[in-house]
Amino acid sequence: MPAIVILGAQWGDEGKGKATDLLATTETIHYVVRTSGGHNAGHTIVVDGQKFATHLLPSGILTPGTTSVIGNGVVVSPEALFAELDALRDQGVEISPLIVSANAHVIASYHSTIDKVTERFLGANRIGTTGRGIGPAYSDKVNRLGIRVADLFDEGILRQKVESSLEVKNHLLAKVYNRRAIEPEAIVEELLGYVDRLRPLVADTSLLLNRALDDGQTVLFEGAQATMLDVDHGTYPFVTSSSPVAGGVCIGAGVGPTRIDRVIGVIKAYTTRVGAGPFPTELFDEDGEKLWKIGGEVGVSTGRNRRCGWYDAVVARYASRINGLTDLFLTKLDVLSSWERVPVCVAYDVDGERHDEMPMTQTEFHHARPIYEFLPGWWEDISGCRSFADLPPNAQRYVETLEEISGTPIWGVGVGPGREQTLLVRD
Ligand code: GDP
Ligand code: IMO
Ligand code: MG
Repeated sequence: MPAIVILGAQWGDEGKGKATDLLATTETIHYVVRTSGGHNAGHTIVVDGQKFATHLLPSGILTPGTTSVIGNGVVVSPEALFAELDALRDQGVEISPLIVSANAHVIASYHSTIDKVTERFLGANRIGTTGRGIGPAYSDKVNRLGIRVADLFDEGILRQKVESSLEVKNHLLAKVYNRRAIEPEAIVEELLGYVDRLRPLVADTSLLLNRALDDGQTVLFEGAQATMLDVDHGTYPFVTSSSPVAGGVCIGAGVGPTRIDRVIGVIKAYTTRVGAGPFPTELFDEDGEKLWKIGGEVGVSTGRNRRCGWYDAVVARYASRINGLTDLFLTKLDVLSSWERVPVCVAYDVDGERHDEMPMTQTEFHHARPIYEFLPGWWEDISGCRSFADLPPNAQRYVETLEEISGTPIWGVGVGPGREQTLLVRD
C-alpha cells in the first residue's frame, strides 16, 4: 500500500495527527508528507500519556525511522518551523529527518501583519483566521508575488522579490489600513537569518517522493485543515486559502493521482468548527456545552473554543465524494458516552425542501436546518475498549449506522487520545 492520504472530512481538528501517528507506528511508513496549509494546523499526538502538538511539521517527526517532508504546496514560516523544532527538542523528542521543498512558499512577518489587519478591517464579516499569514502568503503565490524557499539562497533575487511584493502592500498598509509601511531591507535581513539552518533541509521533494514510490516505499500524506475548509469545496469564503482535499495532495507534493492507493477521511463522532461560517448542526444548548467540555474542544494553535454540534452525515457523504475516500477513521466515540439518545443529521431542510446531498449554493447551505434521526445512547466508559466487540451494543450500532449513512466503510474507531485507544473495525 505505497501511497496513503489521511485528511480531514469535516472542519478540521478531527484527530488527523493521531490517525497519522497510529499508522506510522503500526506499519512501516518511510515518509510522512504535508502538502498544504502551514502553521495554522494544530495536530495533537499523545504517546505514553505525554502530549505533543505539531503545527507546520508533519506528525511523522515523532516517529523514529520515518522521514518528514514539507511539500511544495505548503506555506512555510521559517520562524515557526525552527521554533517548533526547538520546542520539540526541548520536550526531549528525538527528531527524525526533515526535508523541505525548494518550491514551497515562504511566510514572512508581513504576511501575518496583513492577515491580522485585514481581519480587523473586515469587522463583523471576518473569517476568524488563525492570523498566521496563511491567506496573504497564498494570495501572493497566486498573484505571482510570492517568495519561495529556494529564493532565500540567492540574495539578489530575494531582495528584488521582497521589494516587488511590498510595493503595493505598503500603499495598502499606509493608505487603507493606516499602518506603518514595511521596510524591504528589514524583511531581507529577517529571511537571510534563516538561510544557514534551512539550506541543509532543502531538496526537490517531488523527485524524492516519486523515486521512493518507484522503489515501493510507503508514503503517507498527512492532511491539514479539512474538506469543509477547502478553498474550492468548503464553505467559501469561510475557508482556508489552500486545497486540503485529496486532489490537493497531488498538486502540493508533485505526485500524480494514479499513484494514490488509499484515501482515509478522519471524522469525529460529532462535529466541531473553529472560526466563523455556517455549521448546520451547531448546538447552542447544554448538549453543545457538554460536548465541548467532555471533548476538550479548545484549539491547539490558537486556544480558541471550538463550536460543537452533532454528527452530520450530509457532510460525511460530501467528503466521501469530493475526496474519493476509501475508508473513514471515526474519532472521539468515547465523548458520546452518557447520552440517552444521540441525534445524527441525515439530511437538511432548506426552506421547506429536503436535501440529502450538500445544497448547491452557499445561500442554501446558510439556510440548511438539520433533519435528525435519534440513535439509542450508552452510559459505559468505553475508553478502555480495545476491540469493536468490547463496545456496548448501542455504541456498535452507532458506528454501524454512521457507516451506512456516510458513504464510506469505517476502518477504525478512536476511543481516547492515546495511540493505543483505537479499535480496528476491519483490517
Ligand atoms: P487534528 O488537527 O485533526 O490533528 O486534531 P487536533 O489535534 O486539533 O484535535 C483532536 C483532539 O482530539 C486532540 O486533542 C486529540 O488528542 C484528541 N483525540 C483524537 N482522537 C481521539 C479520540 O478518539 N478520543 C478522544 N477523547 N480524543 C481524541
Ligand atoms: P487542523 O489541521 C481547524 C480555520 C480557521 C479559520 C479558517 C481560515 O488542526 O485541522 P486560516 O488561518 O487558515 O486562513 O483560517 O480556517 N482553520 C482551521 N480550523 N483546524 C485547522 O487545522 C484549521 N486551519 C485553519 O479557524 O476559520
Ligand atoms: Mg487541529
